[in-house]
Amino acid sequence: MYLTREEEAIINGELGEQYSKALKVVVKVGEALGAEKLIKVSHAHISGISYYNIGDYGLNLMEDLAGSNVVFSTYTTANPYASVFTDFASAFFDYGVRNKQLRIIKALAKMGARAFTCVPYYVRRPVIDEHLAWAESNAVLYANSVIGARTNKEGGPLALMAAIVGRTYYWGMHRDDERRPDVLVNVITPLSIEEASTLGYLAGKVSANTIPYIRGLGKGLSEDMLRAFLSSFAVASSVPMVFIEGVTPGYKGAAGFVGTGSTRYSVSREELMNFIKKVRGDGRSEPTLYVIGCPHLSHEEVISIVNRFLTRCCRRGEEAKELWILTYKGLELGKDVVRRLAKLGVKVLFNVCPIVTKLKVIGVSRVVTDSVKALYYIPKVSGVKAYLMDREDILREFLGLVT
Ligand code: F3S
Repeated sequence: MYLTREEEAIINGELGEQYSKALKVVVKVGEALGAEKLIKVSHAHISGISYYNIGDYGLNLMEDLAGSNVVFSTYTTANPYASVFTDFASAFFDYGVRNKQLRIIKALAKMGARAFTCVPYYVRRPVIDEHLAWAESNAVLYANSVIGARTNKEGGPLALMAAIVGRTYYWGMHRDDERRPDVLVNVITPLSIEEASTLGYLAGKVSANTIPYIRGLGKGLSEDMLRAFLSSFAVASSVPMVFIEGVTPGYKGAAGFVGTGSTRYSVSREELMNFIKKVRGDGRSEPTLYVIGCPHLSHEEVISIVNRFLTRCCRRGEEAKELWILTYKGLELGKDVVRRLAKLGVKVLFNVCPIVTKLKVIGVSRVVTDSVKALYYIPKVSGVKAYLMDREDILREFLGLVT
């Protein structure tokens, strides 16, 4: 691989051992993929920072790096961490886990992590053609497909190395010739977030290894539906980008790659409804956690949901049911609003991901969510059953619990 003088100096230890090691890792991966050079990135995004995912090994790695005075060389954000600082119906996580999660956060913050969220594009919005090194599949899909920025779907450790050296390998989505669709997927226009999320998952299944050109999502698809579509697409497909007609910069030129003769799939309303029927929950007698915000909501979305609860005064019934609304830091709700929400069992949580948290430990036995991504990962990581429900239905059902 061609390296600049500056890069060779880093490899030779000019900035210290940790920087040298980090750059060697990026170069090795790039060489294995056949990349001819490195490229500077203006934003790295690290994933996999839940203590439940990375354990003591990950904690020690972060603390070793921070303890060696490593500072990120580029603007860096990280995924949300496990929601171990929050109780569920007054049951708490133990001190040991909370302390270890806190140490991971502190190490990342010391190195320069600016925010903990899975929607880094709301914290710092890249511009078209900007080169990034992002992990977190929904963010990668959004950056490439909505903004027109350029990032591969990095693994968490590789994104960490890219953050340290401010570079990644010039390969895949960074190159023009790799950004083209090979399959046409016709979809129906979703009417709700639940439908958008399900459509994304089904479209991902038929284009598991191929960049698709998506037709039919509908002009003027709302931001929350777009986010839901892309995050669920990434559950079923490994590709880092989709071309969405009417949305993705350059989609008109890309349409030429999927003319007659190209592989075509379609996702019908019947298929969509069959999927939803299978994953909808019933029975409301168990301790239930309602989760909205996988991926994190924008602050505007949080405010509009919170306002609907503020006209309510108190909660009816003794059921252990809570609604967690997930977003990123920077939104001030005011103590009075937080108190009023708490009385209703509603919590607005910042910087966390309950999906990568062992919710069983605090007595949650059932999660209801509007996200197919959460639906898919919650049983695997959190150890509890999960069901799908549209956001509006969740809010109505939850608002129905209060007088
Ligand atoms: Fe974000 Fe966690 Fe969902 S990282 S996308 S809330 S699985």
